Amino acid sequence: MADSTTLGESLRRNGVSRRGFLKFCAATASMMALPPSMIPRIAEALEKARRPSVIWLSFQECTGCTESLTRSHAPTVEGLIFDSISLDYHHTLQVASGEQAEAAREAAMHENMGKYIVVVDGSIPGPGSNPGYSTIAGISNYDMLMDTVKGAAAVVSVGTCAAFGGLPKARPNPSGAVAIQDVVKDKPIVNVPGCPPIPQVITGVLAHYLVFGKLPELDSLKRPLAFYGQSIHDRCYRRPFYDKGLFAENFNDEGARKGWCLYRLGCKGPMTYNACATLKWGLGWSWPVESGHGCLGCSEPDFWDAGGFYQALSIPTSNVTRTAAAAVAAGAVIGVAAGLANKAKKSGAAKKHQTVTVDQLGKG
Ligand code: SF4
Ligand code: F3S
Repeated sequence: MADSTTLGESLRRNGVSRRGFLKFCAATASMMALPPSMIPRIAEALEKARRPSVIWLSFQECTGCTESLTRSHAPTVEGLIFDSISLDYHHTLQVASGEQAEAAREAAMHENMGKYIVVVDGSIPGPGSNPGYSTIAGISNYDMLMDTVKGAAAVVSVGTCAAFGGLPKARPNPSGAVAIQDVVKDKPIVNVPGCPPIPQVITGVLAHYLVFGKLPELDSLKRPLAFYGQSIHDRCYRRPFYDKGLFAENFNDEGARKGWCLYRLGCKGPMTYNACATLKWGLGWSWPVESGHGCLGCSEPDFWDAGGFYQALSIPTSNVTRTAAAAVAAGAVIGVAAGLANKAKKSGAAKKHQTVTVDQLGKG
């Protein structure tokens, strides 16, 4: 259950040095596009924060989102911060089972009424669907979700299934799956899509809530702008090849070996908004495009149904890239936007743009 330990006390108990903690605060400020002058404030707020109760519900999902969060090679500050956020109920990680588990969920709700955060991964069979498609402890996903969120301060939909319906909602959608935002209408919701989402983005959203006591600024799909404000294409290190018209034509040609742009091999980076190109995966080790595979668009709605993973976008895509000025306004990663502005200036990349939608993928 939530206790009175502050986050600072908890981190010290877990052996996190002051230096490591400040490094995390600096990285968090940078990720959130906040000026360095905010670092002391972030540190102070995180140090004193009482750990909010988090109830994590997993519905129609593959457990990839939880795996993403827990698969680090060594304890990271982000991991410890997350561990320290009174994870009172988590279907996969909790020790309790059966009636004990459900009692823990109810206790967390009652003890923290109006203050706890509900994190959800997975979609749910929507109202009107057969509730038997997915139940936990004999309770339908829909009933458990609605019962749990009624006393919540906010809901964080983690992963594309929770945010947009994801794979369970893909045609023919046998369970009548819907996204969390389709049924929860009276609570602040943040979508953290991705299949799975980047762990630092999840902890970044929670850190923002701890520091400022409110959810971060969101885009029109309710994604935090600090992480989803620019496209993969905007931040991709292969972008200079795109701008020069140098494309790999297959996965084994000279262009692929030289690291040229993967656009013609189906990369959906130009219409995908996520932070993979800067935060990367596996403790910053690599990311799909760096490993030689195009982006699949996994943080966008309906990406499974769009398919065409190896078909090039059919419409010239310099048009979906925001201008450098818009990128700066969106306030993504400090320094990257400035770099893009220079690149755009030099390459003339900020031309007139059309819009490419998911429906247009693979129709060329
Ligand atoms: Fe990078 Fe893909 Fe854009 Fe090419 S199309 S620059 S590989 S994101
Ligand atoms: Fe997903 Fe594309 Fe990142 S497929 S993991 S958004 S590079």
